[in-house]
Amino acid sequence: MTRVDRETLRAARRDPEVFARVLIGAELWPHQREVARSTARYRAICAGRQVGKSRLLAVLCLHQAFSTPGSRVLVVSAGEVAAQRLLDEVATLATSSPLLAGSVLDETKSQVTLSNGSTIMSVPASQRQIRGWAVDLLVPDEAGFIDPDIWRAAEPVIIARPGSRVILCSSPWGTADHFFRVLWARGMDAPDEMYASWHWPSSTSPLVDQRLLDEIRAREGDDYFEREYLAKWTDEAGAYFTVEEIEGATADYHLLPPDEVGQVTRHARPYIVAAGVDWGVSRDANALCLVAPLDDKGLNDPKDGLRYFVPWLEYAYRCPYGEWIERICTAGRAYGLHVVASEINGVGAYPTEQLRERLAVVGAVYGVAGVWTDNRRKQAGFGKLKVMLQRGQLVLPRIPELLKQLRSLEFEQMPGGSLRIEVPARAGHDDLVLALMQAISCVRPMPGEAWRRVADVDHTVTWLGVRVPIDAWPLAWHTASYTWPAGSQADNTAW
Ligand SMILES: Nc1ncnc2c1ncn2[C@@H]1O[C@H](COP(=O)(O)OP(=O)(O)OP(=O)(O)O)[C@@H](O)[C@H]1O
Ligand SMILES: [Mg+2]
Repeated sequence: MTRVDRETLRAARRDPEVFARVLIGAELWPHQREVARSTARYRAICAGRQVGKSRLLAVLCLHQAFSTPGSRVLVVSAGEVAAQRLLDEVATLATSSPLLAGSVLDETKSQVTLSNGSTIMSVPASQRQIRGWAVDLLVPDEAGFIDPDIWRAAEPVIIARPGSRVILCSSPWGTADHFFRVLWARGMDAPDEMYASWHWPSSTSPLVDQRLLDEIRAREGDDYFEREYLAKWTDEAGAYFTVEEIEGATADYHLLPPDEVGQVTRHARPYIVAAGVDWGVSRDANALCLVAPLDDKGLNDPKDGLRYFVPWLEYAYRCPYGEWIERICTAGRAYGLHVVASEINGVGAYPTEQLRERLAVVGAVYGVAGVWTDNRRKQAGFGKLKVMLQRGQLVLPRIPELLKQLRSLEFEQMPGGSLRIEVPARAGHDDLVLALMQAISCVRPMPGEAWRRVADVDHTVTWLGVRVPIDAWPLAWHTASYTWPAGSQADNTAW
């Protein structure tokens, strides 16, 4: 590792561009440089994939921490995975650079501390503690997916700190009055010392060439391509779910991974769920989605019926079916899988058979329903999903990939009056919504029961007014809500 001389150190402290050159051994790209140079208090970037967002954010976070001893940087991400990813980028840059060599005191899952007393923290937006924090630089990452309520609570506190600044970066997402869209539009329309904005379609990056983009466009749906690569806000035409339907049902609660479900024994799995499985071909993912009635601790009025939610959802690309089946079994060892709807068209028939056998061995399932996903099934399944979302019966986790896929679903009116619903033929990426739809097809919404309200439950509220505990658990020992999905292949004696 080469040593950095004092003059360079001084220049790097003053100038983020010098800092970047010495830190990463590469110049910032021109579009990144513009943002780094801007002195606006709010800098907003609406960006496509792979244009160098993470790199720029990591550099600016580190520059703030490096140049001003004792400063605090807070990255807020939509979802726990994303929060981890940006901090990993920060940590990697910091520890591998001669500029910061020796000055990284400590790095943990959620924080990087420098020897000058500065810290860079990264939290998922679901964490309430972002209220009340004093920070010098706030970075809402994938800001379009962050709950406006959290932003409303956090912003005044942050802005109270003299000289503090905000950098918002996101793919285009959110209703017209979402804070990211509003701030971005403000900075685009009338940039001043307070607001500045940039638009970065993927082609802005010198590494992304037109040929690659043309190829992607040829295989992805229009809505997806326009949003993810052209960074354009797409319109409503043809979209099956409106942004309001999706956002209205979304809440920042913690997902409950199987290993956190607890010490349940083979014969006692109190958290009984319905599961949907989608089998991936080539570039699609294998997906598993669980749905269960929510134990809302009496927070909601029982006369509106039980609320359902997604306690757990996972997906994996290029994962061999055998391995994927074992992962479903792992979920089944923790949760009780009352009914699993598994797609048997396409590649699904054989893996569904294997899954049925393995789950029987594990003793984790009541029944596996092989379902044939044709147009009628989609119409019924997504129709049910839509009604449940509109009525506030279903709460969705704030996982950008799931929300985007829901948004990508398009419908077409067929001559006979039926609807064809799909992520356009050229687009794959419907794995999560299909798994969700399969799980929902096994749910029969039930009337609510009057629970005693538990005092002081830390909770969040959806736009539709549904209260959801931050630590959301399924109702224990509840099976009344499940049903054998219509039109499925007969299975075993259990039903
Ligand atoms: N200034 C730079 N000089 C050289 N390479 C860069 C620069 N900025 C980014 N890159 C490279 O470009 C690629 C994309 O960058 P980055 O991961 O920051 O983009 P992103 O917009 O966050 O992508 P994604 O949409 O996948 O999250 C990476 O391989 C990164 O190393
Ligand atoms: Mg990135």
